[in-house]
Amino acid sequence: MRRYPTGVTVVTTILDGRLKGFTANAFSSVSADPPMVLICVDRRARSHPLIASAGRYCVNILRLEQRELAVRFAAKEPEDPFETVPYLQAQTGAPILEGALGYFDCELAEEHSAGTHTIFIGKVVACGASDGSPLGYFNAGYRDFGCLTP
Ligand SMILES: Cc1cc2nc3c(=O)[nH]c(=O)nc-3n(C[C@H](O)[C@H](O)[C@H](O)COP(=O)(O)O)c2cc1C
Repeated sequence: MRRYPTGVTVVTTILDGRLKGFTANAFSSVSADPPMVLICVDRRARSHPLIASAGRYCVNILRLEQRELAVRFAAKEPEDPFETVPYLQAQTGAPILEGALGYFDCELAEEHSAGTHTIFIGKVVACGASDGSPLGYFNAGYRDFGCLTP
């Protein structure tokens, strides 16, 4: 997997008014019509039961300048990143991180257990995009892939 370049996302959710997010790169498109995307989540992650119970989440695609967010949302520290990270509310109520290169707001449609992880397939209920460069991940490190939209 170290030889497979990916983008970096932060998957956010909201349950009983509590916000949660974690860094994820196991993300893929599934279907265009209807629009569906998948994430693979470790069952040991604190986010796992929250996503399963909430049944909604937002996949935020990080831009190059948001590397620090990737680090913070991957940390196991008790500090809540949402206390200092600006965000907007998506249609589902999950946070859209301000400045994200794009987002997919999802309602959980299917769950499949696979090894240590659960594949959550979400139906995209809203999405958005802005211009910029993506944060990349390759060979266990954050990268600048040197690409820019438009
Ligand atoms: C670049 C990167 C990509 C990651 N991708 C995933 C992923 O796709 N799925 C997953 O379950 N964990 C992934 N992780 C690990 C989680 O971000 C990490 O375990 C996090 O602490 C989980 O947070 P939580 O326990 O508060 O939910 C990734 C970490 C990094 C640094």
